[in-house]
Order: sequence, then C-alpha cells, then structure tokens
Amino acid sequence: MTKVALITGASTGIGEAFARRLAAAGHHLMLVARNGEKLQALSQQLMAQHKVKVYYQSLDLSIADADQQLVAEVADKGLDVDLLINNAGIGSAGDFTYLPLAGELRMMQLNMQTLVALTHHYLIPMRIRKQGTVINVASMACFQPSPFMATYAASKAFVRSFTEAVAEENSPFNIQVMLLCPGATETSFFDNAQMKKDDRQTILGNTQLQTPEQVVTAALKGLQKGKRITISGSKNLLLMRIAYFFPNKMITRIFAKAFRPHFQQQASS
Ligand SMILES: NC(=O)c1ccc[n+]([C@@H]2O[C@H](COP(=O)([O-])OP(=O)(O)OC[C@H]3O[C@@H](n4cnc5c(N)ncnc54)[C@H](OP(=O)(O)O)[C@@H]3O)[C@@H](O)[C@H]2O)c1
Repeated sequence: MTKVALITGASTGIGEAFARRLAAAGHHLMLVARNGEKLQALSQQLMAQHKVKVYYQSLDLSIADADQQLVAEVADKGLDVDLLINNAGIGSAGDFTYLPLAGELRMMQLNMQTLVALTHHYLIPMRIRKQGTVINVASMACFQPSPFMATYAASKAFVRSFTEAVAEENSPFNIQVMLLCPGATETSFFDNAQMKKDDRQTILGNTQLQTPEQVVTAALKGLQKGKRITISGSKNLLLMRIAYFFPNKMITRIFAKAFRPHFQQQASS
C-alpha cells in the first residue's frame, strides 16, 4: 500500500498549492477535481520535479455517491490515505430568495455532504492504525451568518462545528483533525461562484487578498503546532477575535447594510 495525501479540489487555488507544497516535502499524492487535464498536467509536473508518486481522479464531488466512487478508485490503486484534505468547495452570492435552488443544494452537497462522507470513510482506517490527519477547509465565513452569502456561510459553519466535534472524538487515537479558515484569497473561487466584477468589489472592497501559498503555509504551521483551528492571516485572526464580542444580530446587520444595495432583488410578479 502506498501512503498518500488525498487532496480534493487540487486542480487550482488552495488545493493546488497544497499539492505543490506536499510533493516538495516528499509526500505521495492523490488529487481530485473535475478538470482532468489540469490534474494530469499537475501530476506529471510534480512527479518529474519531486520524484513522488502522484495519482489523480477527475470527478464531480457535488454528485451524491461521488465519495463512494472515489473511495473505490483509491482502493483499486492500492492507496492508503494518511492525510485527507477536504478542500473542494464553491460559493455563491446574492439574494437567497432568488438564487437558483439547484445551485445552492449542489453547493451544500459539495461543501458538506461529500466532506462528511470522505471524513467518515478515511477515519475508520486511521483509527485502526492509530495515526492520521484530516484538514477540513472552511472559511472566515464559518464564524457568523452572512447575509447575501447565506448558504455558503451556513455550509462553512457546518464544517466548523462538525470538524471541532470530530477532532475531539478522535484526539485519544493520535488522529489530528484541523479546521482551516482562509480569508479572502486570490484564487478562481470568485469566478467559480459566478460573481461578477461588481459583486466581487462589493464583497471584498479593499480587502488585501492572501495568496494560496500563504494559506498553505499557515495550515502546515497550524498542523505542526497541533492546532484545532487555523485562521490564515493575522488580520483575519484579529477580525475573528473582535467579532467574538458582538452579537450575530449586530454583525449580520452590518453585512446586510453593506451588501443590500447591490444584491437585494425586488419581487417581480
Ligand atoms: N478563495 C477564497 O477567498 C476562499 C476564502 C475562504 C475559504 N475558501 C475555501 O477554500 C477552498 C478552496 O477554494 P479556492 O479558493 O482554492 O477556490 P478555487 O480556485 O475555485 O478552487 C476550488 C477547487 O475545487 C474544485 N471543485 C469545484 N467544484 C468541484 C466539484 N463539483 N467536484 C470536484 N471538485 C470541485 C475545483 O476544481 P475543478 O473546477 O477542476 O473541479 C478547484 O480545484 C474552498 O472550500 C473555499 O470555500 C476560499
């Protein structure tokens, strides 16, 4: 059996940065995303550069049962997942009432259900061998409800609660389960969430974006220190600490006030 780090959403952004960093550190990898061409190119490059084994699978993880396909594929290849990075995720922005329901439900399947299923599949062998690591990628949006990104923030709040609980359950078994909370990061996330330029401007304003590499550096430092939650970026950490002192009602009003003029739609008969 070859020990691998399994990274979902590895074709671009934060997942790709994890793949590059872990390959450079000598880890064998199993990469998953929909774009098989990108995964193939990345795996060939990493194998040539770092002399590690890199496997990949093109798969839409927002489809129910995709987790089972992936688990079967990993088993067929004779791989043993000792590091699971549940990173694949998408967002959406807009007036929830008028966002297409199918897209919101697909996002919930990817951001929550698939993450839960993969965590469940791979914790069992980790328990047996009393060793393993899981990183679940949430967001700064996991800490409070976010009007006009309602379903996305709720999906990440789910990831936070789930991860903290499972981390505690598994702490006696030498299994580290860590929540990673990036803030705004320069990736394709905003394009994939189909945010137009002005949506993006409304949400981000003048926020300074982190690079995916900075997020991965924070994550690996957090793992080394045995952290249960890693927030990437000192400004994000400060914001989270400040927000802690204010009720959600106040915070959601502030968000809504900033975003309503841009996103709120009127009922059309
Ligand atoms: N960027 C930010 O500002 C930010 C902030 C906070 C949290 N995050 C979180 O960070 C994680 C990574 O996002 P990112 O910023 O790196 O965005 P990204 O560049 O859009 O990358 C998302 C990755 O997920 C994959 N993916 C998307 N839909 C998928 C599906 N249905 N099935 C399988 N794979 C799928 C994409 O590959 P394919 O398109 O090839 O499938 C891609 O590899 C997400 O969980 C996101 O919520 C991002």
